[in-house]
Amino acid sequence: MKAIAALAGSGLITLVHGHGYLTIPTSRTRQGAESGKDTCPECTILEPVTAWPDVDEAKVGRSGPCGYNARVSFDYNQPSADWGNKVVATYSPGQVVDVEWCVDHNGDHGGMFAYRICQDQAIVDKFLDPDYLPTEEEKQAAEDCFEKGLLPCTDVDGQDCGYNPDCTEGQACYRNDWFTCNGFEHGDQTKCQGVDKAELNSCFTTIAGGYTVTKKIKIPDYVSNHTLLSFKWNSFQTPQVYLSCADIAISDGGSASTTTRRSTATSSSTAPTTSTTCTAAGSSVKLTFNQAVVTTYGETIKLVGSIPELGSWNVAAAPTLSAAKYTAAKPLWTLSLSLAPGRKFEYKFVKVSSNGAVTWENDPNRSYTVPNTCGSTETAVEGTWR
Ligand SMILES: *[C@@H]1O[C@H](CO)[C@@H](O)[C@H](O)[C@H]1NC(C)=O
Ligand SMILES: *[C@@H]1O[C@H](CO)[C@@H](O)[C@H](O)[C@H]1NC(C)=O
Repeated sequence: MKAIAALAGSGLITLVHGHGYLTIPTSRTRQGAESGKDTCPECTILEPVTAWPDVDEAKVGRSGPCGYNARVSFDYNQPSADWGNKVVATYSPGQVVDVEWCVDHNGDHGGMFAYRICQDQAIVDKFLDPDYLPTEEEKQAAEDCFEKGLLPCTDVDGQDCGYNPDCTEGQACYRNDWFTCNGFEHGDQTKCQGVDKAELNSCFTTIAGGYTVTKKIKIPDYVSNHTLLSFKWNSFQTPQVYLSCADIAISDGGSASTTTRRSTATSSSTAPTTSTTCTAAGSSVKLTFNQAVVTTYGETIKLVGSIPELGSWNVAAAPTLSAAKYTAAKPLWTLSLSLAPGRKFEYKFVKVSSNGAVTWENDPNRSYTVPNTCGSTETAVEGTWR
C-alpha cells in the first residue's frame, strides 16, 4: 500500500493509460465512442482526488456524475447530438437488471464501484438539457443526490457481496453495499478483470483492450420518463475516480419483476402490459438489438421470432442484422425495428453461412415484451450469442 502510494505520487502511474466506463446500459461515454468522436472512452477520469479508502470523499468537480473526458474535452454532463439525447433502456421499479462496465487491460486499478440513481428529478433535469451545461455546484449537488441513491449490491437476492481485500476492517472502504473488484495482488484473478474473468476484448477500449465487469442491480421503486443511472469506480491504485452515466426510463406500467431472465437481453423490461395511455393506435417503440456474435467472412446474423416482423419463425423471411459496427474488438451485429408498446414475442438469433446453412442459438427461446414507454421511444436490447 505504501509502495503503491509512493509510486502514484511520483507520477509514474500517469504513464499508464486505460481505465474504464459504463457499457450496459449504453452510457453517454459509450455513445461518444460509437459516434467516432471520443477516441478514448475509458479516459473519462476525475483526477487527482482522494479515491481511497473513503470512496465518497472526492468532490466531483467538473466531472459531475456523468464524467468529463479531458483527453477530448467532452463534458458528458451535457447532452449533445451524439449522446444523452434519448433514453437507451427502460426498466420497471423493483426490476433486477444486469449492468456492465469495461475495464482496460492497461489501466485496471482495482478498487470498488457503485451504481446510483438520483430520485430528485429537478436535479437530474439539469443534466438532460442539450442547451445547458450544469455548473460545478450543480454537478456536486447531483453527486450528493446520487450518493444517497446508491443501489446496494446487497439489495439483489442471492448476489455475492464481498469486502475489498485491499481494505481492512475499520477503514471507510470496508463496506459491501458497493461492489468490489478482487484484490490488487490476487493470484491469477486480480483486480477488476478478475470479477468476470472475461476474455480480453470482451468489451471495447482503445488502449489495450477491455474486460467486462458485470453485476446485477435492483432498480428502485421510483418512476421517471427520463433519468440517469450513474456509475462510479474508485481506484485503489491511483488517485482517480471514473464516472459515467446512462439515460434510462423507469416505467411503472405494470408488474415489476425481481428476477432477471436467463437471456442476456439485459435492457429488456419485464414489461408492462396494462398501461392504457401508450397502447394508442400509431404509437411505437424503436428497439435496437445490439448482439455480440463472432462471425467469419460470409456469415450473416438474422433475428427470427414468433411475430411476422421476425419472419414468424421462418428464417428465410427474417430480417438480417447489420455488421456496420462490427470490429475485431467488438463483434457487434445490430438491428432496429419499431414495434407497438406491450407487444410480446419469442425469438432467437441464427447464423447463416455463405452456403445457406443455418445455425440456431441454443435453447431456451429468448422472449421480450416491448416496454410501454410513452415519453421515451427508443430501447436497446443487448445480448451475446449463446
Ligand atoms: C411520463 O410521460 C407521460 C406521457 O407524456 C406522462 O403522462 C407522465 O405523467 C410522465 N410520467 C412522469 C413520472 O413524469
Ligand atoms: C421455441 O419456439 C419454437 C416455435 O414456437 C418452438 O417450436 C420451440 O419448441 C421453442 N423452444 C423451446 C425450447 O421452447
